[in-house]
Amino acid sequence: MNIAVAQSGGPTVAINASLAGVFKEALDSNQIDTVYGSLNGIEGIINQNLVNLNELIKTDDDLELVKLTPSTVLGSCRYKLPTYDKDALVYGKIIEYFNKYNIGAFFYIGGNDSMDTVNKLSKYTAENSINIKVIGIPKTIDNDLCLTDHTPGFGSAAKYLSTTVQEIVRDSAVYDLKSVTIVEIMGRHAGWLTASSAVLHANDETAPHLIYLPEGEFSQEKFLSDVKAQLEIHNSVIVAVSEGITLDDENYRSGKVDTFGHAYLSGIGKLLENLVTEKIGCKVRSIELNVMQRCSSHLASKTDIDESVLIGKTAVKAALSGKTGIMMTFKRISNNPYKIEIGEADTSLVANQEKTFPKEWICDNSTNITNDALDYFLPLINGEVKIKTQNGMPIHFKINK
Ligand code: F6P
Repeated sequence: MNIAVAQSGGPTVAINASLAGVFKEALDSNQIDTVYGSLNGIEGIINQNLVNLNELIKTDDDLELVKLTPSTVLGSCRYKLPTYDKDALVYGKIIEYFNKYNIGAFFYIGGNDSMDTVNKLSKYTAENSINIKVIGIPKTIDNDLCLTDHTPGFGSAAKYLSTTVQEIVRDSAVYDLKSVTIVEIMGRHAGWLTASSAVLHANDETAPHLIYLPEGEFSQEKFLSDVKAQLEIHNSVIVAVSEGITLDDENYRSGKVDTFGHAYLSGIGKLLENLVTEKIGCKVRSIELNVMQRCSSHLASKTDIDESVLIGKTAVKAALSGKTGIMMTFKRISNNPYKIEIGEADTSLVANQEKTFPKEWICDNSTNITNDALDYFLPLINGEVKIKTQNGMPIHFKINK
């Protein structure tokens, strides 16, 4: 039989590492002939856009390059698969195309929305006795997938973020004057990534001095009073703020939403910058890390990359053993030494759900996180990978679509 693999949702540094894991395990098994890649997620199946990955990834060097290339080499989508009763045709199209290519298993690397597709498709195949296994492989920098200890891609985003905040700390401390630097961090309604900036405290940095998560208390008055208190202690105050915190007045948002109805969140940093200018009047700058935190493979976490490959490989083993309708998961065995096992969860329990940052890990009047949270984060950013460069710049694997 052959298999198909696709990538969906927002990019990460490690999503191609999972693709590499799927590919390698398929090559090593004697049950799979060809690995097909679907361009732009499930849309590549619906629009008949499969590429033969065995013809594109020819050598071990190619595979290594795929593994360390950020984003999605196959492209991505934010497509919501309609329910069967709303659009039966699309299910027919998908199965027909799978049959044409003798696809016995489909692997979907994605976040909570993508698990909705895995859930719907696997239910459809099972209910109609279609022998195509459908398996979800998690990924997201948001770390907000349920029933897994963490998600591939998160550790590298956290490593980039903490390293970058540390550099911002050095930069903002040069002048002998009071200043506030606000760093806006992605993560939607979950504060995991923003909270992870606190790993700097483990290296004796006092910054970030204030950390604001969607799960904590926040108001403009509280923010101003927190900042004023920190300015009494530090010349240069560093604030890490999640893009997803909510204000009484949400008018600064663009109002735009994606196909899943998620709002495009952006702009809280600028709003807070203006507030400091107006109400405090010291030097202030806001920095929106934006997409840089999703694809910074030059600061990839080796732990993240290795685990992402492993979870991709294990997904193939699961499909070959007859499993379907599951998302592969990480189960943490211990922090020190750091040890994980790969498990699985029913996609119906994961699809469209969000795992938020634990409230018990938030402290200091919603401006900091606890040592338990640091113990959770630190192993995930561990280790560096060696990337191939050309003219001093990283080389990326690209597919001409
Ligand atoms: O889901 C991952 C994520 O990077 C969020 O942190 C962010 O809010 C969102 O994607 C941005 O979506 P898009 O890639 O559609 O701009």
